[in-house]
Amino acid sequence: ADLIVGCLVGSLAQGSLNRLLAEALAARAPEGVKIAEIPIGDLPMFNRDLEADYPRVAVTFKEALAACDALLFITPEHNRSIPAVLKNAIDFASRPKGTNALAHLPAAILGASPGPIGTAAAQAHLRSILPALDVVLMGQPEMYLQVTPASFDATGAPEDALAARLDEFLDTFVAFARRHHA
Ligand code: FNR
Repeated sequence: ADLIVGCLVGSLAQGSLNRLLAEALAARAPEGVKIAEIPIGDLPMFNRDLEADYPRVAVTFKEALAACDALLFITPEHNRSIPAVLKNAIDFASRPKGTNALAHLPAAILGASPGPIGTAAAQAHLRSILPALDVVLMGQPEMYLQVTPASFDATGAPEDALAARLDEFLDTFVAFARRHHA
């Protein structure tokens, strides 16, 4: 069967570098692997009062996660951590208590920034959050990507050096996900 991989992209920006990365990965998915973004931008701000009657958009979000065999977290760094929009989505996925939609899913993290550390500080935070939710995180290769809009051509295709890193990452990740998914 196909390996279904959902992407959570931590940016709502038009022309997001991280969404370009998600789209490049989807386009480069090997045979038998389907990679698609799961949107998080329509979720309201999490509030535990919502747990009694979870918003339809959050139920739909959790159903989309449940349909995945594995996840990719593709995130910018905002002020040395993950963007609030991504943390909000993780909080929705994890609740109500006992219904954590992330549990036992194999996952990996990538992040793109024009800055020299390539989201390393944000990814370190995400690496402390996800295992607490029983996500099975891949360790290597780490993907701290320093990119700019010029790293992609007009069709969204990444430059050669970036494409090679993405292909190597995908090879390792697909093997990891097949090994770990229930
Ligand atoms: C940033 N940016 C940024 N970059 C970085 O490398 N480290 C950081 O801590 C921050 N902090 C930060 C805070 C806020 C509020 C914004 C809006 C931006 C710059 C960021 O990397 C840049 O905007 C990227 O283009 C964001 O990724 P997307 O949205 O293009 O995917």
